[in-house]
Amino acid sequence: MPEAGRPKLLHEGRPRELRELPWRGKFSRRELTRAPHRSAERLTCSTDEVRMDGPSDDLSQGEEIPPGEPDAMRVVRDVVFAMMDTKARPVQRVEHASTAGVVRAAFEVAPDLPAELRHGVFREPRVYPALVRYSNAANQDQSSKDTHGMAIKLFDVPGEKVLPDERHATTQDFLLVDCPVFFIRNAPDYAVFAPKLLAAFRLTQGPFIRRLPAFVGQLLQFGYLFFTYLATHFHEARILGALRKRPPKSPLDTEYFSSTPYRLGPHAVKWLVRPQAVNAPPPLQPSNDPELQKRANCLRAALVSQLKQEDAAFDFCVQLQANPESTPVEDPTVAWDEAISPPIRLGTLRIPAQEFDTPAKRKLALGLSFDPWHSLPEHRPLGGINRVRREVYVAISDKRRELNNATIREPDLTWLQDIWDQATG
Ligand code: HEM
Repeated sequence: MPEAGRPKLLHEGRPRELRELPWRGKFSRRELTRAPHRSAERLTCSTDEVRMDGPSDDLSQGEEIPPGEPDAMRVVRDVVFAMMDTKARPVQRVEHASTAGVVRAAFEVAPDLPAELRHGVFREPRVYPALVRYSNAANQDQSSKDTHGMAIKLFDVPGEKVLPDERHATTQDFLLVDCPVFFIRNAPDYAVFAPKLLAAFRLTQGPFIRRLPAFVGQLLQFGYLFFTYLATHFHEARILGALRKRPPKSPLDTEYFSSTPYRLGPHAVKWLVRPQAVNAPPPLQPSNDPELQKRANCLRAALVSQLKQEDAAFDFCVQLQANPESTPVEDPTVAWDEAISPPIRLGTLRIPAQEFDTPAKRKLALGLSFDPWHSLPEHRPLGGINRVRREVYVAISDKRRELNNATIREPDLTWLQDIWDQATG
């Protein structure tokens, strides 16, 4: 039941809709595949026309809503909910469930930024306390090929935020992965893929398959996705292949990209984060912890070992949109060429040497939600894939935290200092 004063979660009271996913005929395939890049008909309208609680500002920086987007967003959201294992305790994230670590950091805004880049958190040179979560997108086994995530949460960020329920939150999140592109252009295209993903996922959920080695399940899923989707969607298949990367030596030793666009004041931008030379991992310190000796936890072990020995730092950079054709806002499958839009450093993310891998901190970390919509309006997410994420992240992370009896609200600086920093057990 929703708590008093908390708005209804998006999925609540909609069990019927979960049973009416589009592969049972809710949308025609033609409608779902009419992506804006292929369609002559393009809509340009306000986000408020799609979402009643949408950001108060209009679509901006070249945003365009393709036909069918609101319905497609619902499909994606319902699929994400259908993939949540609500019986497990604790309930894990549906995506990016495997954690290499959540670490304390400090985000220093560069002192010498030109006036045109000084917006939002980059307005003044200052240091924001931060948490950073390193994750694997799909696999529990960190030694297998996967996409790797880096989610940054800045604390003590003044100013109203874009989500109406979290207007007074004092956080700003940046979500990044180790690939400059996303594999799907927009919500209608994702709504074609998502049901196939769900069906592939369900294939491996039976008690018999679960007892077999993980690679058998992965092969089954790949086979199903290949015949039902990838064999006919070359563009997406090619990028999905590129998204499956070998694990880096350490989560601190690779580049991360927002892949979808955001605002930096009046500009449309993409974020990227580059490791500094100090991040080259020192020799791995063997651990006595049997969990850290498992290959499946290799990235967690590398992070623990590296931050036991040394500090790390990343350059936080931005690419400005050059023009709508070569650096589009509505198609995150297009990488923004660094020759056209060279990265500009906006600040430094410093991660001091620390011990972070404790049961108490792991429990707190599961209660956190990193969401690109935890944002100042000056950094509002842009484009259709980010609009889908707005439908998904709040609802799914609220559900996870509700089932885990964890706090359902954005943490603040006091929480960081009194709860996170003091959690030593
Ligand atoms: C429509 C497209 C997408 C969907 C449906 C989706 C879905 C999700 C979901 C359900 C979660 C778990 C949220 C939670 O339980 O707190 C998640 C986490 C995450 N997603 Fe996405 N995602 C999408 C696109 C992207 C893109 C384009 C990126 C690129 C940066 C991305 C990066 C991440 C990262 C880094 C996390 C982990 C956040 C954390 O550490 O808690 N996602 N995503």
